[in-house]
Amino acid sequence: MAAWLLKAVTCIDLTTLSGDDTASNIQRLCYKAKYPIREDLLKALNMHDKGVTTAAVCVYPARVCDAVRALKAAGCDIPVASVATGFPAAQTHLKTRLEEIRLAVEDGATEIDVVINRTLVLTGQWKALYDEIRQFRKACGEAHLKTILATGELGSLTNVYKASMIAMMAGSDFIKTSTGKETVNATFPVAIVMLRAIRDFFWKTGNKVGFKPAGGIRSAKDSLVWLSLIKEELGDEWMKPELFRIGASTLLADIERQIYHHVTGRYAAYHDLPMS
Ligand SMILES: *[C@@H]1O[C@H](CO)[C@@H](O)[C@H](O)[C@H]1NC(C)=O
Ligand SMILES: *[C@@H]1O[C@H](CO)[C@@H](O)[C@H](O)[C@H]1NC(C)=O
Repeated sequence: MAAWLLKAVTCIDLTTLSGDDTASNIQRLCYKAKYPIREDLLKALNMHDKGVTTAAVCVYPARVCDAVRALKAAGCDIPVASVATGFPAAQTHLKTRLEEIRLAVEDGATEIDVVINRTLVLTGQWKALYDEIRQFRKACGEAHLKTILATGELGSLTNVYKASMIAMMAGSDFIKTSTGKETVNATFPVAIVMLRAIRDFFWKTGNKVGFKPAGGIRSAKDSLVWLSLIKEELGDEWMKPELFRIGASTLLADIERQIYHHVTGRYAAYHDLPMS
């Protein structure tokens, strides 16, 4: 189980998306991304020299510089992901949404988590959705494009499947369930539809697209369920940070607690595991 929990850690996009984010809490987040699990616990598992870090940190565009600076100072090459395109509602003009992507990339983000215009899905404007995501793709340049479908607002599973396909056809490197700000987050029925779309797309094109559930994923147990779902639906091939991410802010704290319990046989007191 400890091995699976560590695998989950390496797939986390450690996220903070708050109005009161500052350079100093971004710095703490980056430190936690580099040292996600206490050194002595990793030693006990014989994993201390395996470079266990989270997959990325994920922040708002205005905080990308802080994250890039903090990670550089810590001497590590964890990618910085930024949400963009009027996150979370996508209710800003296309021109500003595209500019937001370009500026985040300019500041050093190498992964961009975009949100789509939900109306295009709800009214069946698939070509327009494709065109919009193509433009996001272009604006990203070399940066990876993660497309958030906000499945809680898409109305039906059929729409989720179609939107997943369009997002992949338009060049997304990942499809992601939710922003974490909708009233419905990542659910398993939706996830299965998205995973089957990924599989169908792979069979048709040979291209492997990644999957990122996000929103409300807080417990170590949840992360294990997500990992086994990926294993079942897509196979071991997908169980790595290149093709699977979990978007989460507090999940890591629970995973570290469970690993502490695994190693020491007791539960950590609050102050044993300082977490941002
Ligand atoms: C989203 O798409 C709808 C339907 O085409 C359009 O009316 C609306 O202006 C778009 N929203 C944005 C923010 O561009
Ligand atoms: C969805 O996720 C967000 C962010 O983790 C959380 O604040 C919210 O309570 C969740 N909503 C539901 C319905 O689980």
